[in-house]
Amino acid sequence: MTAPRSTTKLAVVGAGAVGATLAFTALARGSARTVALLDVNRAKVEAEVLDLQHGGMFVPQAEVLGSDDVEVCRGADVVVVTAGAKQRPGQSRLDLAEATISLTREILPGLVEAAPDAVFLMVTNPVDVVTYAAQQISGLPPERVFGSGTVLDSSRLRAALAQHCGVATANVHAYIAGEHGDSEIALWSSARIAGVPLLDWEALPGRPPLDDDARRSIARDVVESAYRVIAGKGATNYAVGLAATRIVEAVLNDEHRVMPVSTRIEDFHGIRDVCLSLPTLVDARGATTVVDTPLSEQEVAGLRSSAASVRSVQQRFGL
Ligand code: LAC
Repeated sequence: MTAPRSTTKLAVVGAGAVGATLAFTALARGSARTVALLDVNRAKVEAEVLDLQHGGMFVPQAEVLGSDDVEVCRGADVVVVTAGAKQRPGQSRLDLAEATISLTREILPGLVEAAPDAVFLMVTNPVDVVTYAAQQISGLPPERVFGSGTVLDSSRLRAALAQHCGVATANVHAYIAGEHGDSEIALWSSARIAGVPLLDWEALPGRPPLDDDARRSIARDVVESAYRVIAGKGATNYAVGLAATRIVEAVLNDEHRVMPVSTRIEDFHGIRDVCLSLPTLVDARGATTVVDTPLSEQEVAGLRSSAASVRSVQQRFGL
């Protein structure tokens, strides 16, 4: 975490569980000097702002604003869109497409008018389809409109691998790629644990092997994570709020950080005209360059399948 520029403004659209958690996380980490919350529910957004302001003594200095008027987003450097339909227990993210695409069509033009120079980070699910739609609707340069993608899934993967192997999460370098959803895949062939290629990892004393069965089980648990959390508490918010805040910081601090965010894939192993997550350079300009991560044949096939799954939903809604 490095000190943000003195005048940075983060606007969060949607003061639901994810948006409120994101705003809280950004304040606690000192991610931006101004945090603005926008929600159609005026009473809710004003209450969230009051509650956040009341903690001001315990966090780095920041101004907290909130309104049901898009004006509160004016001049933002980063706009994060979390507003959208909630994923119900057992419902897939792609099932939410119709509701969230029409909401994106409704709110994005006003947000672009209020913050024409901002980087837009889409978090609302299905985030890959929503990002693709948002790029079309906004008319902004594609690097300035991208999605949180599989940053959260990659965190889930790294946490699970760290626990399995008995090392710190910081020692695990591994990505989930593709759809932020049921068709996502783990990029085992490029993963490293403490500098050791993951596929060559020898279990530490007293730790289980990281064999095919273990990797399959871990990858399945990552895909099923959100379903399990939603079944128990109705929504996910902490991990996605942390993931989105970390992406915001990479933009506001011009970090040139490689993150698996959702961007429009132009031509990657024949994949094109779809938004998917691949390790991508994130800096003050947005999500700029997809890194040419080496992939196994199985991983290329998995990404192609993921692309087909997302594109089929895009085409159903004329995108
Ligand atoms: C999750 C939601 C953000 O994976 O899709 O928790």
